[in-house]
Amino acid sequence: MPVVYIEDLAQHFEQEVSIRGWLRHKRMGGKIAFLILRDGTGDMQAVMSKATVGEELFAQANKLTQESSVIVTGKVRADPRAPGGCELDVRDLRPVQLVAQEFPIQAKEHGTGFLMENRHLWLRSHRQHAILRVRHEIIRACRNFFDDRGFVLVDTPIFTPNACEGTTTLFETDYFGEKAYLTQSGQLYNEATAAAFGKVYCFGPTFRAEKSKTRRHLMEFWMIEPEVAYAELQDMMALAEEFLIVIVRSVLKLRREELKVLERDVSKLEAIAAPFPRITYQEAVERLQERGNPIQPGDDFGGDEETILSKEFDRPVIVHRYPKIIKAFYMQEDPENPALALCMDVLAPEGYGEIIGGGQRIHERDKLEARLKEHRLSEDAFKWYLDLRTFGSVPHAGFGMGIERAVAWICGLEHVRETIPFPRMLYKIYP
Ligand code: 4AD
Ligand code: MG
Repeated sequence: MPVVYIEDLAQHFEQEVSIRGWLRHKRMGGKIAFLILRDGTGDMQAVMSKATVGEELFAQANKLTQESSVIVTGKVRADPRAPGGCELDVRDLRPVQLVAQEFPIQAKEHGTGFLMENRHLWLRSHRQHAILRVRHEIIRACRNFFDDRGFVLVDTPIFTPNACEGTTTLFETDYFGEKAYLTQSGQLYNEATAAAFGKVYCFGPTFRAEKSKTRRHLMEFWMIEPEVAYAELQDMMALAEEFLIVIVRSVLKLRREELKVLERDVSKLEAIAAPFPRITYQEAVERLQERGNPIQPGDDFGGDEETILSKEFDRPVIVHRYPKIIKAFYMQEDPENPALALCMDVLAPEGYGEIIGGGQRIHERDKLEARLKEHRLSEDAFKWYLDLRTFGSVPHAGFGMGIERAVAWICGLEHVRETIPFPRMLYKIYP
């Protein structure tokens, strides 16, 4: 019997096929049984009549418990009322494993703590399934975006000898007797590969030992980072704008069903279009103060400030030119006002806040040497990075987007913990 996936059932009307999956739940009558099966690609109803299959097989079906694995064979019948437009008229059924215990996750409400402890099983639920399918689509769209525009994927290392985004959030590890750190960002290496390939991106896991327990922070998250030689801050604003529009459109086009499962208000996503507003840090501070926020010029934005700012617009807002002093060591200064950095954050609407950070890098060797000193970073560790400013240095810029934050926004989730299969959170590494 041909084995097919549930998502392909509609191509097999009136044919006899096998489905290999798991039982979500069942309804048993005296003469007829309805089995709801899932196989990872979708859900389907299998209908079994005692008259057709006989007493013995019908009794087998009765023994099936939630999440028992089972192979069912039968004829595909069109049924406009069924999900996916078809159901299976069962002729045969073979349990692979009968689950002897009650499945921990039931249709009732469970607390988040319990669900997180059972994350390995929780992934089978409709909602988690929908989120991770959207995540996959976002990642695919990100890759396609850069691939289509001639960027070269050049991945960067995870073990690194030095910090990129500040020394306070480093995960330290032992590298054959030498100190090493898990990468916080591929950017510094991207700068080397951009000088070799012109336009590059890297995509991989990044690590931050952030002692923050917020809805936006993970210890391990995935970041996609483009870097472009001969590019400046405004080029990155334009690139980030086009990038986000393409990603949102792609999810709207290919993952409508999943957004429906998540009860996402898609009109909010359909409104995402160019141009994104661009405001300076200074303007952002003024706006916040007008809203009664106690922020003072020079303060960095926290979660509250980002939430307020990102609720002001119906599309992502680009905040640029933050004070140099609150930003990373590599940021180029604004020639118009050297106290400011040529950097940007893109804040997603509806209160989501920062999803992209980036900007223009210092490309002059003397300036960079001075900045390393100011930040008390060892010149030895950055020797290779300084080399890039000796051999054909050019203005260059890039940005990084945290995949999980983008997923949380596009799916409309309250917390990033559901955006990654196995979240690593403060003091929590199980399962
Ligand atoms: O703003 P960040 O720290 O920028 C960089 O790392 C730059 N080196 C990127 C570059 O220019 N190539 O981080 C970039 C993005 C943030 O906007 C956010 O989306 C995400 O990474 N991010 C986190 N996501 C989840 N949990 C955390 N702890 C995160 N920290 C940053
Ligand atoms: Mg940032």
